[in-house]
Amino acid sequence: MGTDSPSPSTAPVALGARSAVRAVAQHHQAVVGFLVGFFLVLLLYTTVSSQFGSQAAIGVLQSVRTDENAMTPTSPSSMPSNVTQGDNMKEENKGQKIDEHKKMEEDRVQHDVHGIEKSNQTEAKFDDEKEENPEQAGQTVNDASDRMEEELIRQEIDQGGGKNDTNIQPVTPRKPICDLSDPRYDICEISGDARTLGANRTVLYVPPVGELGADSQEWSIRDQSRKYLEFVNKVTVKSLNASQAAPECTSRHDVPALVFAMNGLTSNPWHDFSDVLIPLFITTRALEGEVQFLVSDLQPWFVDKYRLILKNLSRYDIVDFNQDAGVRCYPHLTVGLRSHRDLGIDPARAPRNYSMLDFRLYIREIYSLPPAGVDIPYKEANRAASGATTAEQHRKPRMMLINRGRTRKFVNFPEIVPAVENAGFEVIPIEPRRDLSVEEFSRVVDSCDVLMGAHGAGLTNFFFLRTNAVMLQVVPWGHMEYPAMGFYGGPAREMRLRDVEYSIEAVESTLYDKYGKDNPVISDPESIHKQGWRSGMRYYWTEQDISLNVTRFAPTLHQVLQMLKQ
Ligand SMILES: *[C@@H]1O[C@H](CO)[C@@H](O)[C@H](O)[C@H]1NC(C)=O
Ligand SMILES: *[C@@H]1O[C@H](CO)[C@@H](O)[C@H](O)[C@H]1NC(C)=O
Ligand SMILES: *[C@@H]1O[C@H](CO)[C@@H](O)[C@H](O)[C@H]1NC(C)=O
Ligand SMILES: *[C@@H]1O[C@H](CO)[C@@H](O)[C@H](O)[C@H]1NC(C)=O
Ligand SMILES: *[C@@H]1O[C@H](CO)[C@@H](O)[C@H](O)[C@H]1NC(C)=O
Ligand SMILES: *[C@@H]1O[C@H](CO)[C@@H](O)[C@H](O)[C@H]1NC(C)=O
Ligand SMILES: *[C@@H]1O[C@H](CO)[C@@H](O)[C@H](O)[C@H]1NC(C)=O
Ligand SMILES: *[C@@H]1O[C@H](CO)[C@@H](O)[C@H](O)[C@H]1NC(C)=O
Repeated sequence: MGTDSPSPSTAPVALGARSAVRAVAQHHQAVVGFLVGFFLVLLLYTTVSSQFGSQAAIGVLQSVRTDENAMTPTSPSSMPSNVTQGDNMKEENKGQKIDEHKKMEEDRVQHDVHGIEKSNQTEAKFDDEKEENPEQAGQTVNDASDRMEEELIRQEIDQGGGKNDTNIQPVTPRKPICDLSDPRYDICEISGDARTLGANRTVLYVPPVGELGADSQEWSIRDQSRKYLEFVNKVTVKSLNASQAAPECTSRHDVPALVFAMNGLTSNPWHDFSDVLIPLFITTRALEGEVQFLVSDLQPWFVDKYRLILKNLSRYDIVDFNQDAGVRCYPHLTVGLRSHRDLGIDPARAPRNYSMLDFRLYIREIYSLPPAGVDIPYKEANRAASGATTAEQHRKPRMMLINRGRTRKFVNFPEIVPAVENAGFEVIPIEPRRDLSVEEFSRVVDSCDVLMGAHGAGLTNFFFLRTNAVMLQVVPWGHMEYPAMGFYGGPAREMRLRDVEYSIEAVESTLYDKYGKDNPVISDPESIHKQGWRSGMRYYWTEQDISLNVTRFAPTLHQVLQMLKQ
């Protein structure tokens, strides 16, 4: 491992990096990343122990198809608060729409998702981290916020939380409206008088006296960003009618609340971000901390691992919704998480037009990494050292080289490390371990100019890279370019990272030796994918390891080096 230290004059940035690097070295250079998980495509076997006992889960990975053209979720505040309309919507959603969406989702799963049969394959549990969190609780959280909603909340608060019922103007919609129209998520918004019965996984809307009618509406939705993920338990949202008594509030709150689930496919870092953290950012970032999270199926490991992010998105205590026996009353409450696409944000649909670039810079800020204007470490160090003339003092570009633990691992890792060093890089090899905190690990990633790994969740660490750093993704055999771009390459570009893919050839795959060059697994991957996602999953995501041809790979390293020098 290279030992060049950044010159002292690169002070604060370099210091953090150096101590982090030292920490890494102490761990036999085999650091790990809890962030180094498996793959994204897939997944996992999740043991969910909820009130329903234990259940195996099938991981599902959605396609990266963008939803830009999908309908924009309708905000309740933009709809007439007319009862009939609410009913229509409900009917429509419950009927044909759901069927359509289900079908869409199934298609997706077949085309693009790679899942693994649940109880069948324990090894499908690539998740290196799963064992960290044996206790699983369910959580659901929903959050909502776009500008219109913020405006509504402000109105509500100004009105004393909607308590002055008799003066409520019919102009503002007061009904909880659950919008089930988005292909990815369902969401409900209540403005006025929202009461939670956490232990019953229920949220009530108490209409103003004048609007109490005979009708009582009820929805049941999954409060995360994957509306068809079976093992996310549902939350019931009900509006009361004139003959139903509202439960007394045991606590009243002025801030809006969001109910969302923390279980599902979380524990794979890619899913942590794609399914929960990015949707949470979309749903609540514009509230600037002024929102309380009511988390259904709360996962203590998740709360601990991502505490910096969660604490910044909400300055209030997280409520363990399933265990909450009280009746909490809020002026505004959202159930569900908005999501635009896999590991992505569509600025046109996001509050304040947030983008993935905003998200990466936000994450870096939360982890106290250098601000946006700071160049990649290689450039910063050499700029600082340029006065010192001695060419040898120039720091080499530093690469974090991730080797996956179980699937798609580099079988010739010991050969790859020196090859990368010979190409002119300092290498920080990372193999699965999980004894570093995200905070520590983020500083190590920040100190690197390149993040290299086989297609897989370890690349999710790219959030900690600096602008213009390179993500070098090794794409396994089997027509994997599409998911490679969708899950990592595309997001990397949106976040203003430089994205380089190296697609291996058949002989670099261990499948080649295992099945032979004439087997369709090698000769005709398309035919394997056509057999269904389970086949593609099995061969290309699960069974495959990589023996990188360092000769063939050398020009890619050279290309990366040139990029960094530009
Ligand atoms: C609901 O909307 C329809 C169509 O806009 C209107 O005709 C009707 O009067 C409204 N009903 C109420 C109760 O406002
Ligand atoms: C596991 O899957 C294989 C093939 O997909 C099947 O033959 C076997 O019966 C399954 N085992 C269980 C326990 O479901
Ligand atoms: C309700 O609000 C109106 C106008 O905002 C105010 O005049 C009235 O006194 C309030 N009533 C109560 C019971 O607070
Ligand atoms: C909540 O659940 C408990 C236990 O199932 C039940 O007794 C109670 O009536 C429920 N509360 C409401 C308001 O539905
Ligand atoms: C209120 O709703 C409940 C449940 O939907 C229903 O049983 C009851 O008849 C309704 N009350 C009135 C007054 O319509
Ligand atoms: C979130 O982080 C930003 C940037 O560091 C900071 O300005 C803001 O005060 C933080 N908000 C909370 C609620 O901690
Ligand atoms: C966000 O983008 C949309 C579509 O590009 C645009 O209409 C809207 O004005 C933008 N909003 C803000 C706050 O910039
Ligand atoms: C490795 O790649 C080089 C350059 O493409 C090629 O000449 C060589 O045959 C490859 N080695 C193997 C073992 O495939």
